[in-house]
Amino acid sequence: MPEKPTLLDFFKYRFGTGTHVMQSAGRALSTGMDEKVVLAYLLHDVVNTLMSANHGWWGGQLIEPYVPEETAFAVRYHSTLRFFPDSDYGYEYPESYLHTFGVDYVPEPYLQRTYEKVRNHKWYGYSRQVTVNDLYAFDRSKTVSIEPFIDIIGRHFRQPEEGLGYDDSPSSHMWRTFIDPDRRL
Ligand SMILES: [Fe+2]
Ligand SMILES: [Fe+2]
Repeated sequence: MPEKPTLLDFFKYRFGTGTHVMQSAGRALSTGMDEKVVLAYLLHDVVNTLMSANHGWWGGQLIEPYVPEETAFAVRYHSTLRFFPDSDYGYEYPESYLHTFGVDYVPEPYLQRTYEKVRNHKWYGYSRQVTVNDLYAFDRSKTVSIEPFIDIIGRHFRQPEEGLGYDDSPSSHMWRTFIDPDRRL
């Protein structure tokens, strides 16, 4: 990692390129979604390179100081909305969840409460959109370049002068953890 890492460095050295997030961001771009949603796609699962539990919330918190509010909102709640179908957006309950969570699974009360809150929020559509191109973007044989996203990142991601992880935002420590997850203290 360079001394003052940028978001692109994180993709290059930590999150990986040509991955699920880039494939789904590519689909969002080609279906004409808002740039704030495309950026949300690009960042929606990056924390999964460290852990998967509550990844929507972790992802939202990680990016919040640097992106439009709608983008952080979209990422924070996409993982909750994945459990709740919405035919208006053509989003069905994922078949893979039947295997992962079981056919009888009912989302826990905290997820139900979160869903109710988000369903009635003015930015529901931003987060909902992050579910519709999420399903089909796991083709490991496919490579996607970061190139088409560079301008979108430039327009909507506030890159700190000190480098991501070395500024004093509320989530800098999270970026530092990605840089060196095994650092003692
Ligand atoms: Fe996700
Ligand atoms: Fe995803």
